[in-house]
Amino acid sequence: MKDTQHNGRSKSAMSGGRRLAWGAGIGVLLFAIGYGLNAKGWLSFSLGSPDEGTSQLGEATYSRAAMEADRKTQSKDKLAVTAGLPVGADGYYLPPAESSIPDTPYGEAVRRGRTIFMETSTTVSDHVGNTLACVNCHLDAGRREHSAPMWGAYIRYPAYRSKTKAISTLEDRIMGCFTYSMNAQASPSGVAPPAGSDVYRDLMTYMYWMSDGAPTGQKLPGAGFPKLKKTELGYDVARGKEVYTNNCVLCHAVDGQGQKDAESGVVFPPLWGANSYNWGAGMARIDTAAGFIKANMPLGKPFSLSDQDAWDVAAYINSHERPKDARQKGTVEQARAEFHDGEESYYGKEVNGVILGGGVEK
Ligand code: HEC
Ligand code: HEC
Repeated sequence: MKDTQHNGRSKSAMSGGRRLAWGAGIGVLLFAIGYGLNAKGWLSFSLGSPDEGTSQLGEATYSRAAMEADRKTQSKDKLAVTAGLPVGADGYYLPPAESSIPDTPYGEAVRRGRTIFMETSTTVSDHVGNTLACVNCHLDAGRREHSAPMWGAYIRYPAYRSKTKAISTLEDRIMGCFTYSMNAQASPSGVAPPAGSDVYRDLMTYMYWMSDGAPTGQKLPGAGFPKLKKTELGYDVARGKEVYTNNCVLCHAVDGQGQKDAESGVVFPPLWGANSYNWGAGMARIDTAAGFIKANMPLGKPFSLSDQDAWDVAAYINSHERPKDARQKGTVEQARAEFHDGEESYYGKEVNGVILGGGVEK
């Protein structure tokens, strides 16, 4: 038993070691130039595709079954090695299989949370002001690495955030996505679900279930969205329009409104306009959108765009009008100074002769 534990542990340790070894060479360069980037995140896309990148870690598997076995021993033997982190063949944290959600009251809450995550605008219609769902930006039911996966988030809250200058709990964070990404101000209630709502209870139960075996306080590889370093050319709306035409129009349409299906509702989500995220959302920032796009778009072709194209197309989609920042009380100018100072965003700036940020309504 001890041996098994040891194998499991040393395998995942080895994967970490290899990652470090890989990172070390380029890492020196990185530090020298002073990009304060997460070496692992950077590595995974600098190697071209995550498949290429993660094949280096291909043997790094430590199954959930091995973890369960190690946990059992650990509960009886206080000297036993701590159970390791479940890791898949791609080297990233391995969330539990959906088929393993138990048929218990707890499992029911997990399923309710999952349904809210997948069909937000219909299940929480009182508090959602657009046609988006959580899964539109947190892909694969919130399981996908580099897509701000819920297993990467659950273990890192409560935390201090400069956006709010306060400690945020996980519930606060989800409330933020309702307020900005889901544009709650345009919903029937006009606000995000109130603190303590069952909506948060179910969503957090889903996230807790997904994070089983992940250690608190750690930023796991693939957590959050990747940060792209700035390019020499900077970003440009006209170049971005070309990238958009060649890579995105097929699904998100020329007018950026995506596509709807009479039966199942939104198939391809809108990228701007009244049914999209508002100006206060993380995705309205050009740097955040560029990182998301690099790792996740075009859908099914992660890490296929160059960094330059990802920046430019992020600038293009975020150069269109969208619902106003939910925090804006006075003028756009005031809100720009108060909430968007120094940010990579067109909020309050002039693009093609128009000052952006005024908002659009349905
Ligand atoms: C339009 C895209 C979008 C939608 C829709 C969206 N989010 Fe987010 N979410 C983001 C972005 C961008 C961030 C990171 C923001 C930042 O840190 O600047 C984020 C961050 C988070 C985080 C923290 C992640 C971390 O690693 O710290 C959680 C939790 C979260 N979202 C949950 C949700 C839930 C639940 C929903 C649905 C109610 C949702 N999000 C809908 C874009 C979105
Ligand atoms: C093959 C279809 C397809 C292509 C091509 C595609 N997307 Fe998407 N995109 C999607 C789908 C589907 C989602 C929602 C993901 C989900 O729910 O699983 C999405 C989500 C998004 C989102 C976050 C949600 C939102 O509505 O804001 C952004 C931003 C985005 N895509 C930008 C782009 C950009 C930029 C390109 C071109 C570089 C692109 N997409 C190409 C299908 C596509």
